[in-house]
Amino acid sequence: MNETEAKIKALREELELYNYQYYVLNTPTISDRDFDFKLKELEALEKAHPEYADPCSPTRRVGSDLSKDFEQVTHQYPMLSLGNTYSKEEVRDFYERTARLLNEPFEIVAELKYDGTSISLLYEKGRLVRAITRGDGTRGDDVTVNVRTIRSIPLKLRGNDYPESIEIRGEILLPWAEFDRLNKEREEQEEPLFANPRNAASGTLKQQNPAIVASRKLDAYFYYILGKELPADTHYDNLQKARSWGIKISSFIRKCMTLSEIFNYIDHWDTERKKLPVATDGIVLKVNSLRQQKFLGFTAKSPRWAIAYKFQAEQAVTRLNRVTYQVGRTGVVTPVANLDPVLLAGTTVKRASLHNADIIESLDLHIGDKVFVEKGGEIIPKIVGVDTEARPMLLGEKVRFIRNCPECGTPLIRPEGEAAYYCPNELGCPPQIKGKIEHFVTRKAMNINIGPETVEDLYNAGYVKDAADLYTLKAADLLRLERWAEKSAQNLITSLEESRKVPFERVLYGLGIRYVGETVAKRLAKAFPSMEKLEEASFELLVDVDEVGERIARSVLNYFADERNRDLVYRLKEAGLSMSVAEETLAAHTDKLKGATIVISGTFAKHSREEYKAMIEQNGGKNSGSVSAKTDYILAGENMGPAKLEKAEKLGIKIINEEDFLNLLAK
Ligand code: IVH
Repeated sequence: MNETEAKIKALREELELYNYQYYVLNTPTISDRDFDFKLKELEALEKAHPEYADPCSPTRRVGSDLSKDFEQVTHQYPMLSLGNTYSKEEVRDFYERTARLLNEPFEIVAELKYDGTSISLLYEKGRLVRAITRGDGTRGDDVTVNVRTIRSIPLKLRGNDYPESIEIRGEILLPWAEFDRLNKEREEQEEPLFANPRNAASGTLKQQNPAIVASRKLDAYFYYILGKELPADTHYDNLQKARSWGIKISSFIRKCMTLSEIFNYIDHWDTERKKLPVATDGIVLKVNSLRQQKFLGFTAKSPRWAIAYKFQAEQAVTRLNRVTYQVGRTGVVTPVANLDPVLLAGTTVKRASLHNADIIESLDLHIGDKVFVEKGGEIIPKIVGVDTEARPMLLGEKVRFIRNCPECGTPLIRPEGEAAYYCPNELGCPPQIKGKIEHFVTRKAMNINIGPETVEDLYNAGYVKDAADLYTLKAADLLRLERWAEKSAQNLITSLEESRKVPFERVLYGLGIRYVGETVAKRLAKAFPSMEKLEEASFELLVDVDEVGERIARSVLNYFADERNRDLVYRLKEAGLSMSVAEETLAAHTDKLKGATIVISGTFAKHSREEYKAMIEQNGGKNSGSVSAKTDYILAGENMGPAKLEKAEKLGIKIINEEDFLNLLAK
């Protein structure tokens, strides 16, 4: 293998890894900017050396956000991305190339580049029939149920001059205010925070429960319409038309006749965008005339008639004094840069995230380095580079990621394919022990009236080393501690007493078994109505449960395989907590729908869809999202989807309305 071929191979492998970390693991280890530069380098090499072409090269695809839980559908028109630029020179190049290729007058439409997650809506006869994520560009997830909850997306188009079939593409966004609210809530509930509104929006869209999606107040802007018959022959006029159909189109779209108008638009929005309620990360320039667009055409990945200019995130330079490491509740070790205080985007920054060991390594960090700190869409500022020019002659100590847990000394582990290091000493590492207790007492678990500081005090005093110890506390013990008085001590004792009534599913959630969140705990409690049954459950039985995949099943098995966990559960039982589903709850379950697979479609008057779903499960039936030969009934409300109706009729499946259904259960 010669040098060029080796270089191409190495770049491909490197980019593939970044892609995997970003799209599959959701833990990026490189900045978008650096990724784009490397990708461009590879593109250039491949172009110069077509003999080393490979259809599987990272240059030949757009990233994937496919997830297994939604039905995957093929896009009628592939969802391409845009070429990215970071400099005005490249914008000029784009403009001049366009002028040269067209060799006639042209207009450029300048738009904001919204930083969310892209979506393609299909309207047929003016009704929203499908909403698909980008996926790998060719196929995406059908997230229609979730998109229907977004208020700014019309379910029916207004007016009557829309084409029979039209595809409308845009960006789903979580507004800043909503993002802050959501993260605050997650902080209270000790759930991991979303890094930025984009992740929050795409995470929300992939939620299995549309009710949660609806509660998060997503927004959307649309910027591209596609179809066999379009209303106008320019992009700009098509968007105006779409706006008249009730589609949310940004009002900051401008037609530009010259390069300097384009630069003015860029400069204006570089600062003004900070006042917008949603995140933007650049501007998009598009040739206005559809005829000219067609003439310019596409490369394998993106249109030649459009380009994205990305804004430079706000940066500051400061000195790196020290790197410290934080151990989270789940054992993840996060490196933190301690900096000379510096003003950045209106706040003083003293600490910044260094993400993970790979980033530290790729930056070749040394103590005393002058580092670039950036505040992009992220809440926590991050180090994006080192000013190597400003490096002192005498280099400071090289920063090396620690090998042992800073809290308990246990050697760290790094699961294959993951970017993070973990401390595996789950039951012996103080922040993890305290974290488990803090989780146990939260509102959604045992709802015991204490916060992290009290947990800290109780732990330090040696009174509480795990959740079960809480139930051995005596008012007299508490009074020996600082800040405790008769009243507060009594309150805690009462709160502990109350918590004995908490239902089994919340006790199960409170154990903090990895990946067993609230919903999964509910599902497990239903399938295994006592702790004993759950402890005895096999892998096969576990994965049979709705919403339980292999990862969760393995985690449950691991949990109960550890004697220390079984001992904890035993002591919690001795303390009088509910270890099985209450009789009344069990009694509400019937077998009336045993074995029946039911599809719910449309909207209902008497109960919500969620309530009907719960009723089906309570009575032994199974919910399914799509109509197939296995479907026994369709519970149909108003506006049942036409595709479902047609399929049901074809397969001869019985369709019942809500009255029929309720009668069936009342029998
Ligand atoms: S046009 C074929 N316009 O940026 C061109 N995209 O890398 C289709 N985006 O996938 C895209 N704001 O998710 C276009 N005003 C805008 C946009 C925009 C945000 C996103 C979109 C696209 C990505 C391009």
